[in-house]
This record gives sequence, structure tokens and C-alpha cells, in this order.
Amino acid sequence: MSQAVSYSIRDKIGVISVKNPPVNALSQRVREGILDAIGKARKDKSEAVVLCCEGRTFIAGADITEFGKPPMEPGLPEVLSAMENLNKPIIAAIHGTALGGGFETALACHYRCAIASAKVGLPEVKLGLLPGAGGTQRVPRIAGVRAAFDMITSGNPIPAKIAHDMGLINEIIEGDLVEGAIGYARDLVDSGAPLKRIRDINIDSATIEPGFFEQARKRANARARGQIAPDRIVSCLEAAVELPIDKGLERERELFRELVNSTESAAMRHIFFAERLAAKIKGLPRETPVREIKQAAIIGGGTMGGGIAMCFANAGIPVVLLEINEEALDRGMKIIRKNYGITVKRGKLTDADVKKRMGLITGATDYADIAGADIVIEAVFENLDLKKEIFARLDATCKPGAILATNTSYQDVDAIAAATSRPQDVIGTHFFSPANVMRLLEVVRGEKTADDVLATTMGLGKRIRKVCALSGVCYGFIGNRMLTGYGREAQLLLLEGCTPQQVDSTLEKFGMAMGPVAMGDLAGLDVGYKARQSRNTEGDDPRPYAVSTRLVESGRLGQKSGAGYYKYDSDTRARNSDPEVEAIIREEAEKFGIEQREISEEEIIARCMYPLVNEGAKILEEGIAQRASDVDVVYVFGYAFPVAKGGPMFYADQMGLKNVYEKVLEFQDKHGEKNWQPANLLRELAESGGSFAAWDKQQG
Ligand code: 3HC
Ligand code: NAI
Repeated sequence: MSQAVSYSIRDKIGVISVKNPPVNALSQRVREGILDAIGKARKDKSEAVVLCCEGRTFIAGADITEFGKPPMEPGLPEVLSAMENLNKPIIAAIHGTALGGGFETALACHYRCAIASAKVGLPEVKLGLLPGAGGTQRVPRIAGVRAAFDMITSGNPIPAKIAHDMGLINEIIEGDLVEGAIGYARDLVDSGAPLKRIRDINIDSATIEPGFFEQARKRANARARGQIAPDRIVSCLEAAVELPIDKGLERERELFRELVNSTESAAMRHIFFAERLAAKIKGLPRETPVREIKQAAIIGGGTMGGGIAMCFANAGIPVVLLEINEEALDRGMKIIRKNYGITVKRGKLTDADVKKRMGLITGATDYADIAGADIVIEAVFENLDLKKEIFARLDATCKPGAILATNTSYQDVDAIAAATSRPQDVIGTHFFSPANVMRLLEVVRGEKTADDVLATTMGLGKRIRKVCALSGVCYGFIGNRMLTGYGREAQLLLLEGCTPQQVDSTLEKFGMAMGPVAMGDLAGLDVGYKARQSRNTEGDDPRPYAVSTRLVESGRLGQKSGAGYYKYDSDTRARNSDPEVEAIIREEAEKFGIEQREISEEEIIARCMYPLVNEGAKILEEGIAQRASDVDVVYVFGYAFPVAKGGPMFYADQMGLKNVYEKVLEFQDKHGEKNWQPANLLRELAESGGSFAAWDKQQG
């Protein structure tokens, strides 16, 4: 038997135990091991069989690293069929997370028991897949089609107790799981319980309201952002209702195969592994010591500071929020309370949860109150002199060993560190707005940042449920530096003849959550306007700001003033095109002597995406990002880049770097030397037939 699976008999109950750390994924040797054990159990004197797992979790799914490679026998359906057809009761004993193929394995058992802290779910949709081993056929047979739709299209795991209420779990076990499961198996045997095969349950199609699937498909597609899996899940559920189970399973397998081979799923699997890889810092040993973080402080309780304080409170870490005076503090605290209130209204938190979290946030206006903090995050106005002043003050106030972090978007972290006598303790923590919602945290390593400060900050990021990506110091770090070209091209496209709607809807169809022009309206056009006024713009190309400046000067600040590039419906906030804006764009184009023309969707996408790729390549060759996959993580988690496209660098690999490079050269020729200067790395990879993925591998 494979070493990943052991089989023994205890008190006449066969125990199949899976041991495939870290998450007991269903690798080939696990499948083979389970199949062997089932073969033994079929013939031996055991009266029932318990399937359990060692380590931190029940089987957390198929082995994702095997997807895209030639299939290896035995396949999961074969294993599950052997389990389901076993001649004695087989019981899954669940702890941790039974996910995907892991939960499907449990569903092929005759009974399922779990400890209360366990969770079960079918998260395949998050990898661009559908449950390919019976999940779409078995869940609706127990829990009903509607519940199956919610569970499978959301991919979110369900606590064991709720799964118990839904009928997906038969028994909640108190105390030791394996002992409890053996006891449960014994009771089933003694009471002569039948072999309950979910396949034998019939779905009564009369219970499905007319039009259900049509509506389900609409709902699934509405949130799909270019993903096909949600649509295929609905097809599988339809098959569960309309076809006998074996035909339904066949249909599910067929659609699973289609998805496994799709670029969307490859992109989403890439992001799954990229997210985890980004947490690993090259050259930083795993055993690097970390500093203890028991108390945090935030300087500045504005848009970002308030959100960051919530992240700490949500993770159970006490945090002091320091503002300039009582009035500003009150304002900041009110906004935090209001944000929590919205979450309560949505049913995601209770009043008691909020009370507990608010209890962890203390306001302050005196630096003496933050002297004991283990980490201080500065989130005041984006002004280097002010930030330096604050860091000098933190240096004088904070205890030795405290981590001093800045949330700056653009400023030089090394210059900020130099304002202290302890630059080794200074680091950048660049959160994204809204900080309590957006998953990305760019961790900016200064020239002198100590290894343990970096390791602690990365660990803390995970603790406050962020996806961390490391950046070196440069203007705008990874994400905002890349964004400059994206925004610039969107604006130039307007001058060249696109309407705001055309740019936005094309990029939204591509999968961006919101197009760049509408995004400007959401953020407020006055933000950039004020920033431009406060710096020397001499020598800047005026074209990318021309329209925006005109809009601000005519009182159109974006959504907050009811109009910007679009007019907004005051009730629904729906955006509507405005001929007035189109006239302004035409006037500005004329001023710059730009001839307006028809522009294809293909050009809009290339013009906006390739600056991301080109700048991303520069960022890699300068060593600002560790890996191309880290750049993808930044864009997917910080800028709502469509996960089904895998991030800009993965997307470029799909387009072929030779094609991307040629387009960059073409744009350089047509639209200017400076904006489209190709990255050396892009040229090298294009000329050598390389890819960013292969480059990442080569770099180790
Ligand atoms: N296959 C291969 N490797 C996996 C894996 C899987 N299903 N799940 C996790 N891993 C790896 C991770 O890449 C990571 O590797 P690393 O240490 O080298 O970085 C390691 O296991 C630990 O994972 P996490 O860091 O994510 O550990 P956590 O404890 O934070 O989370 C988890 C555990 C909740 C199980 C999380 O890993 C997870 O969500 N895994 C994916 C679950 C999933 O999507 N299952 C469905 C797979 S598709 C499927 O089953 C198809 C079927 O229907 C036929
Ligand atoms: P904000 O203007 O909303 O808040 C700044 C807060 O700092 C104000 O409440 C102000 O009273 C307070 N403050 C000013 N001087 C202070 C001092 N000396 N001591 C204590 N508090 C002081 O600004 P926002 O948007 O929260 O930005 C803060 C920082 O975060 C900036 O560096 C910005 O670049 C960065 N950032 C902003 C993002 C955004 O989308 N708003 C995204 C990521 C980073």
C-alpha cells in the first residue's frame, strides 16, 4: 500500500488513514492507497470502515499540481465508485477542511461525521473549475438544487454544524474524532443501518420552480467576469435533475475536462500558487526570527488609517489610532463605526462582534499613548516632509524594537527611514483602499530594513488576512508605478476618439471590475488635480490630464458631485454618457492637434494592458519585484485585475511575448518614444522565445 495511506482494523472497524502533508491532497499515491485499502476492507472481517486523515485537515481537494499534466491512474471517480459500492458501511471522519475532491470523497461515503470546527465546501469555481467527482450530482440530491447552486457557485466553505442542518453531515462528534467515528460506525453496525448511497436519492423535478435554471444561469453569469465555470456548474445541476446519476456524472466529467483545459482555469491555478509563493522571500530563511506583535498603533485616522485599524481589530490585535486632535479622531472613529454598521446590516457581523472589535480600537492624540506599540503604521497625508517629521517623532517615542511602517503610496521609504536613528526597523506597508476590504498588502523593503522586520511584517500581513507581495523602493512601488501607463493610455484613447463608455466597457468586458475612466470618477477627479497643483508639472506631458482638469474646473469631480466623465443617477448611481463631456474631449483633442478616429476593442485592450506588462518587465529587471508571478498577485488582489486572466504578466505570456513586444514597438513608433520605451527584459524574452513564467523558474 502507498505510504500516503494506511489501513488497520480496530475493534472490528477498518480505519483508512490518509497522510499526505500539508493538506492531504488527493495525489495519485493517495488515490491508489485508498483504492487498495477499499479492496482489503471488502474482503476482510471488518464490519464497517472509517476514512480519516492525519495532520491538520481532512482531504483538502484534488492535487492541483496534477492538473494540466497527463492523467494518472486510478482516477478519482474510480476510487469513489469503489467506496460507494463497498459492501459495508463506510464513514468519513472530517476535521479541518473537506474541500473539493476531499468533500466529494466524503460524499461518496455512506455516512459523514465531523468535529464542530470542521468546514466543508466545493471551492473549485475559485480555480475556474467545477466539482469533477460527483459534487454537482450528489450535493443537490441531499441539500436541494438551490443550496447546491449557492454552495458550488460561491465556492465558500460551510461550517460543519450548518452542513449538518443541510443534511450533508450526519453526525457531529464531540471529543476525539477518530475514536468518536469508530464509536459512530459501531452504532451504525449494531443498529443495522443501511448503506446510504447518495446516488440512490432521486431529485423530484416537480420541486424545482419553473425558470429556476434560466435565472440561475443569469445570476451565475452576472458575477462571472469572463469565467465560464459558473455557467457550466448550472449545466451540471440541470443534468442532476434531468438525467440518471451515471449520465449526470458523465456530463459533469465532460464539462470538468473542458474547464481543466481552459486558459481561465490555468490562470486561476497560477494565481492560487502565485499567492502562496509571494509570501516567500528569496534569501530570507524560514527560520528568520520574528518580533512579537501584541499591540499596534496607526498614525492618521483618515480613509486609510481607519481601514487599517479595522484590519487589526478584525484579527483581534489591540490598536491605538492617533489623530492630530479630538475632532479629527472623532471623525475617524465615526467612519469606522459606520463601516462596521454596514457589515452588520449585511448580516456578516453581529452587534456583539462589532462591540468586541470596537473595544480593541483606542483613540489617542498624544504620542505617549503609542510608546508601547510593537508596530506603528503611519497613514497621514502623502507629504514627504510631514512623514519625515512623524518618523523622527516616532523614533523619539517608540520603544526599542518597535517596527515603524509607512503606508505611503509613492514616497521614498529610505528617505523616511533616514529621518530616524533606526532605519533597520523601518518598512513600507502599502495597503489598498478600502484597507479593510482589499486583500493586497505591498510590503516595501527599504535599503536598511532588517530581515526580522521583514519576516515579522510578512507574517503579520497573513495574520490580518492580507495577501502580501514584496516590493523594493521606487516611485509608486510595483502596483502604482505600473498603473501610470495604464491610466495615461486610457486618457489618450479618449483624445484619439474613444468615448469614456467605450474605454470602460471594453476593459470591463476584458474582466476589469471597473474601467479606468469610471474608476477616476469613483476616486474623485479632484484628488489628482490637487496633487498636480502641489507639484511642479513642468515638462510633464499635459495630454493625459487635459480632460480631467477641464472637468474639475467645471465642478465635475466624479461620483461625489454627481458628475465627472459620466452623469450619475442620484438614486441608483448608474453611469450615463454625457454629450457635454464628449464635446470637452473633442475640444481638447483639437487643441493638441489630435485627429479623432474609430478605435477597435483590440487596440483599446493592447494600449491599456501592454504598458502594465512593459513596466512590469522593467520592475523585474530592476529587482523591484521578486517574480513575475508576484506582479500578477499585486494586480489581481490590489487592482481587481481579472483573476481569470491570471494577472498582466501571465496574460502577456498567453498573448506571446513576441507579439506583445512587436505591439510595443508599433505603439512606440506611432505614439511616442518615451511612453513606449520597451523593457530590455521584454525584448530579450521576446527574441529568445521565452516567457515570464519560464523566467521566474530560471531565477529560482
Ligand atoms: N493541491 C496541491 N497543493 C495544495 C492544495 C491542493 N489542493 N491545497 C493546498 N496546497 C498547498 C499550497 O500550495 C501550500 O503549498 P506551499 O506550502 O508549498 O506554499 C500548502 O499546500 C499549504 O496551503 P496553504 O498555505 O493554503 O495552507 P492554509 O492552511 O492557509 O489553507 C487550505 C489550507 C484551506 C486547504 C487551502 O490550501 C486551500 O484552500 N486549498 C485549496 C483547496 C481547493 O481548492 N480544493 C479543490 C481542488 S480542485 C478539486 O478538488 C477538483 C475535484 O473536484 C475533482
Ligand atoms: P486622508 O487625508 O484620508 O487621511 C489622513 C489623516 O491623517 C487625516 O485624518 C489627518 O487628520 C491625519 N493627520 C495628518 N497629519 C497628522 C499628524 N501629524 N498626526 C496624526 N494624524 C495626522 O488620507 P488617506 O487617503 O488615508 O492617505 C493616507 C496615506 O495613505 C497617504 O500616504 C496616502 O498616499 C496613502 N494611501 C492612500 C490610499 C487611498 O486610496 N486613499 C491608498 C494607499 C495608500
